[in-house]
Amino acid sequence: MKIAVVNTKGGVGKTTTAVYLATVAASQGKSTELLDADPQGSATSWSDIAAEEGTPLPFPVTPANKITLGRAGQQELTVIDTPPGAADVIQAAIDAADVVVVPTAPSGLDLQRVWPTLEAAAHKPAGVLITSAELGTKLLELTKETLEAEGVFVFENIIGKRQAIRQAFGTVPSNFYGYRDLLDEIFEVTR
Ligand SMILES: Nc1ncnc2c1ncn2[C@@H]1O[C@H](COP(=O)(O)OP(=O)(O)O)[C@@H](O)[C@H]1O
Ligand SMILES: [Mg+2]
Repeated sequence: MKIAVVNTKGGVGKTTTAVYLATVAASQGKSTELLDADPQGSATSWSDIAAEEGTPLPFPVTPANKITLGRAGQQELTVIDTPPGAADVIQAAIDAADVVVVPTAPSGLDLQRVWPTLEAAAHKPAGVLITSAELGTKLLELTKETLEAEGVFVFENIIGKRQAIRQAFGTVPSNFYGYRDLLDEIFEVTR
């Protein structure tokens, strides 16, 4: 199974989501890899720092480009982290994937970038992941309603805004918050 984590906007939680999902899968004993298709290499830096600290991530992080993505490996789970902007790399990641996860914060400004991202993924099973959410707020409900009114699939599992997630860069996440249930949901909905 290959999951592409995609949004043409930066700073929406793509790398965080990719690393958490891969960590959950690896912790369940699934053979897992993360392909880092972002030339900025945030997931690669995360992995390098964790290794330098003596607590490596429990899966390999390999740089990838639009050519190598096409021959992505045969792990039980391959998670592809993607750059913002770069339409060709984003398209290659979507084309290589079985399922596309589009993280977005629950704000109107961020939602603007979800529509073109979903358009690029129209030929694949795709869902929006609401992340950095303040649970129980009107804005969160409004975001869900706006997406669902447009016929968009929204993952039931929403990731809250948490200081601990923000601080997890360069470490092995040990508390998965909503990401364990999210991975279950991704496997469930793509079955
Ligand atoms: N659920 C969350 N709660 C709080 N901060 C988050 C959460 N998810 C991501 N972040 C933070 O938001 C910023 C952008 O996340 P990142 O995963 O790098 O986004 P992207 O890869 O889309 O650019 C980072 O500082 C990250 O730590
Ligand atoms: Mg990133």
